[in-house]
Amino acid sequence: MNDDSTGASRGGRPPGGPLRDRFADEPHAVMERINASIGFDRRLYAHDIEASRAHCDMLVARRIIPEADGREILKGLDKIEEEIASGAFAFSPALEDIHMHVEARLTELVGDAGGRLHTARSRNDQVATDLRLWVRDAIDETRAALASLQETLLTRAGEHAATIMPGFTHLQSAQPVTLGHHLLAYFEMFDRDRSRLADCRRRLNRCPLGSGALAGTSIPIDRDMTAEALGFDGPTANSMDAVSDRDFAVEFLACLSLVAVHLSRIAEEIVLWSTAQFGFVSLPDALATGSSMMPQKRNPDAAELVRGKAGRVVGALNALLILLKGLPLTYSKDMQEDKEPVFDAADSVSLCVAAVTAMVADMTVHAAAMEDAAGRGHATATDLAEWLVKELSMPFREAHRTTARIVRLADSKGVAIGDLSLDEMRGIEPGIAAEAIDALGVRDSVSSRASHGGAAPERVRRAVDEARRRLAET
Ligand code: ARG
Repeated sequence: MNDDSTGASRGGRPPGGPLRDRFADEPHAVMERINASIGFDRRLYAHDIEASRAHCDMLVARRIIPEADGREILKGLDKIEEEIASGAFAFSPALEDIHMHVEARLTELVGDAGGRLHTARSRNDQVATDLRLWVRDAIDETRAALASLQETLLTRAGEHAATIMPGFTHLQSAQPVTLGHHLLAYFEMFDRDRSRLADCRRRLNRCPLGSGALAGTSIPIDRDMTAEALGFDGPTANSMDAVSDRDFAVEFLACLSLVAVHLSRIAEEIVLWSTAQFGFVSLPDALATGSSMMPQKRNPDAAELVRGKAGRVVGALNALLILLKGLPLTYSKDMQEDKEPVFDAADSVSLCVAAVTAMVADMTVHAAAMEDAAGRGHATATDLAEWLVKELSMPFREAHRTTARIVRLADSKGVAIGDLSLDEMRGIEPGIAAEAIDALGVRDSVSSRASHGGAAPERVRRAVDEARRRLAET
């Protein structure tokens, strides 16, 4: 017989957990397994407790709960925070999630007062608040880590403002540049990433707490007070939106995806540059790995893993978008699946930023090999075309054609364009003077590119100073 006597025989407590008062039967084993999120959402504990403190203070201030109960609740929350931080806290899947764990332990510790904390609150506005607080901290941490990577890029760019290297398009020699200029390109990417994360934070910073399950509450709460206590700019405007909105998490993952893509690009360059074929840099022993079979190997595993983890981060963004697509308002349990991708992407990016920072800081640069490579592939042909434009007032199209003929001549003789004689060049364009050949050296070529944002060492030095100012300001 299925009657109320089961509950009654347990002193009125529900079978299978505190939320089952309306049920007669215990949950199926699989129900508990699929329902529980405590395995991962315990990471929200500090934010959950912080939000509970703010909620409690507000309930007391509005005389919704007695002051004495408020004091007990705060004491209990302190104790729970300590227990979880020290590892002494007992977690159980029967209590589903972090919110129920904190509440159940609170009631154990302080009795009936604990049961008052959930006044005018639902786990729906609670989890929306906790996750916003968690993501907000993660944004701050990611921005700080990126700033230190940028700092490292500036240090190396300053050291190598005049170190010549080949610049590539299509991974074919294009024009000589400097390593400093190349590294500053990454400074810009990470600067945009930091700015995007700051935008995301600005939009995220509204407090859902007090939205209730979906429709607000009849209890006379003060949402501005809780919002302010938690460092938000104010409460969210619509209770239904507040409990179902995860845009902030999507935006965060979009920002992280782009960070991961940028990291994977510099990682790929480190992989290429550290090959015997390029020979531009070497990673220190501490940042390389060996092979189990080939004794000579020195593998850039960290760089490869940074490249690989980008897929995982972009995957997290996809997972969240697909999770939210088509969900009716307001909260659905699907949304419990939002946390793991957010945590995993944040962890992966944090690790990758640290790995790239270490590789950029500690890689040894082989300046001679870089400069040597910079001269290959007629990389200064554009300089000859520009000389024809500047000195002979030739239309650029014609200069391009003339230079292409000179390149062909050099190729047919198996030499670099700079090694052709003046007479050989004049055979193609009689106006060419000896200075044109001087302009074909890689150093002259790079120094001449002094336009705003260009690769000339003088420019790069100024760009490093300017970037340093920008980094200090934002
Ligand atoms: N653990 C849940 C989550 O992460 C908390 C919200 C539960 N709300 C509910 N109505 N069952 O989404």
